[in-house]
Amino acid sequence: MKTTYVTTPLYYVNASPHIGHSYTNIAADCYARYRRLRGEQVFFLTGTDEHGQKIAQAALASGKTPQQFADDVVVHFQSLWERLRISHDDFIRTTQPRHEEAVKRIVAAWERAGKLRKSSYQGWYCTPDETFWTDAELAELGRPVCPACQRPLERTQEEGWYLELEAHRGWLAGHVKAHPEFVRPESRRNELMGLLEAPLPEHLCITRPKTRLTWGIEAPFSPDHVIYVWIDALLNYITVPGYPADADRFSGIWPADIHFIGKDILRHHALYWPIMLHALGFTDEQMPRTIFAHGWWRIGEQKMSKSLGNIIDPSAVLTHVLAAQPHAADVYRYFLLREVPFGQDGGFSEDALRVRLNADLGNDLGNLVHRTLSMIERYEGGAIPAGDGLGSEDRALREAVQALPGTLDAAMADVQFSSALEAIMRVISQANQYIESQAPWTLAKQGDSRRLRAVLRTLAETIRAASILLEPFMPGVAAAIRAQLGLGEAPRLLADAAAWPGLADGQRLGPKAVLFPKGTS
Ligand code: MSP
Repeated sequence: MKTTYVTTPLYYVNASPHIGHSYTNIAADCYARYRRLRGEQVFFLTGTDEHGQKIAQAALASGKTPQQFADDVVVHFQSLWERLRISHDDFIRTTQPRHEEAVKRIVAAWERAGKLRKSSYQGWYCTPDETFWTDAELAELGRPVCPACQRPLERTQEEGWYLELEAHRGWLAGHVKAHPEFVRPESRRNELMGLLEAPLPEHLCITRPKTRLTWGIEAPFSPDHVIYVWIDALLNYITVPGYPADADRFSGIWPADIHFIGKDILRHHALYWPIMLHALGFTDEQMPRTIFAHGWWRIGEQKMSKSLGNIIDPSAVLTHVLAAQPHAADVYRYFLLREVPFGQDGGFSEDALRVRLNADLGNDLGNLVHRTLSMIERYEGGAIPAGDGLGSEDRALREAVQALPGTLDAAMADVQFSSALEAIMRVISQANQYIESQAPWTLAKQGDSRRLRAVLRTLAETIRAASILLEPFMPGVAAAIRAQLGLGEAPRLLADAAAWPGLADGQRLGPKAVLFPKGTS
């Protein structure tokens, strides 16, 4: 079976990661974990984009060489991913020889196949976005500002190598029409269709003259040029799984099942990238299956970005705002995934984070686990009771739990993390209401041990199922629930969430610990 291939953008190393970067990686991680939970072999790739003018300028300003600068900054990305439990299988830095060599071979192949044209270019360049714009594209705006980010552009005139764009437009428009899942969500697909209705710039310049920029991969056909940073970076999606050197490995992983990106880089991924692949001779079947462009996190009315200087550092949120939380990374993951439907923009605030923590996690999930385990401790001496003879209320909760793997599948097929979590949390609330309605303390007082055991067992099975269903979203919390239930780290599958019973009679609980302590945060 083909490996499921999940990617993230390669982040520029001109500064440390912020919430926006962490969002893409958390979403991609959640998705990769979900696919693993379905029993699939997954290859999940992230990394850093280390070439280009933007990095060269940042390095210069700090008095370091670009490579030293990248080596220093990449550590911040790697340690944040570790802290956030990002489970990538590989981490690519575009300055690694494995990538540089493959890029050289690929662009040389374009050149040999006559796909490149050498000529002189006049146009505009946005350094923060590392993106070219033509006069025609700026005509409507009437002044030289970047149509994507509104910042001033630099006039450029230089000799370079060009790849055809417009010649591929008909093919790409046909591909997009025939593959509704190629770009998601719908709004971004419409945006792409709009771009494909009018003529594209004739060509895309794939080089930069060394007179202006030396920090890049040298073009194999010209010692005076380096490869344009976007061409270099996009190619990582095929160089890492083995293109062109290792055809066997490559064919087991490619095509990408899903490229997670932010909507700011749709044009590069949905226009340039498929055209680059097409120019390499990739067929329609070899195109990425889905490019999912999510929305922006805003602070107030503004997009959060390094260039706008309004960034929020995820490490500071974990260390300060969530200081009292043993599962701070999971609380943060939960907030980002639950708060905003994936694809839409969202506003970040510490207050909103605290509301999710206190309401959904503390009062609902944390309470359910705590009450269930405490009652098993108190009434059953810490051993999972056999719960035979379920009544109709018990069965209603069981059925709600057993429906969840299907609901999760449906939500994840749509890449809707928030609706998946909403469905799981609805059943968690239902279980809390069930505790109130069944009042195990009254059953204990009345000596109705048969009902008491059925209720406690139903609750224990519910939190066991939750520990599987929540794993992609909150892997640390999921593991903690399992440990408190006395379960080992046995491999789990999504289907196990619907198994009932899934616990062994008499199994002893593990040590208890509060999942989401109240108080300072
Ligand atoms: N290096 C390019 C990508 C090359 S991919 C082959 C790049 N890097 S970036 O560091 O600017 O990060 C881009 C990605 O970070 C965005 O596409 C998005 O996934 C994420 N975000 C950056 N700012 C963001 C927000 N304010 N909100 C949400 N995500 C944002 O572009």
